[in-house]
Amino acid sequence: MPLVKVKPLTELPPGSVFELEVDAATYAVCNVDGKLHCLEGTCPHAGGPLGQGNLNGNYLTCPWHGWEYDCRTGLNDSDEDVKVQTYPVVVQNGDVFVELP
Ligand code: FES
Repeated sequence: MPLVKVKPLTELPPGSVFELEVDAATYAVCNVDGKLHCLEGTCPHAGGPLGQGNLNGNYLTCPWHGWEYDCRTGLNDSDEDVKVQTYPVVVQNGDVFVELP
């Protein structure tokens, strides 16, 4: 799939999370101190919306029951068998794009 535009970088400042919807899928696009990440948007625990979660350092916290995922790897902070998919993020001409499969 080609790059999918998320939004201008100025609208995704450090510390923020954006819920991206593409077709029927959702993604969590995160700005961790200027480093951008994209994770699968559905929490494996019970389907919580990770794109509506909050950042805690490098970790994205699910808004439903507080499970945390490392934005860099997608790994759950307390169970390495639980992982969400991550996707590449690039910035071109001031806009944020994600590379989806
Ligand atoms: S649905 Fe995400 S922690 Fe429960």
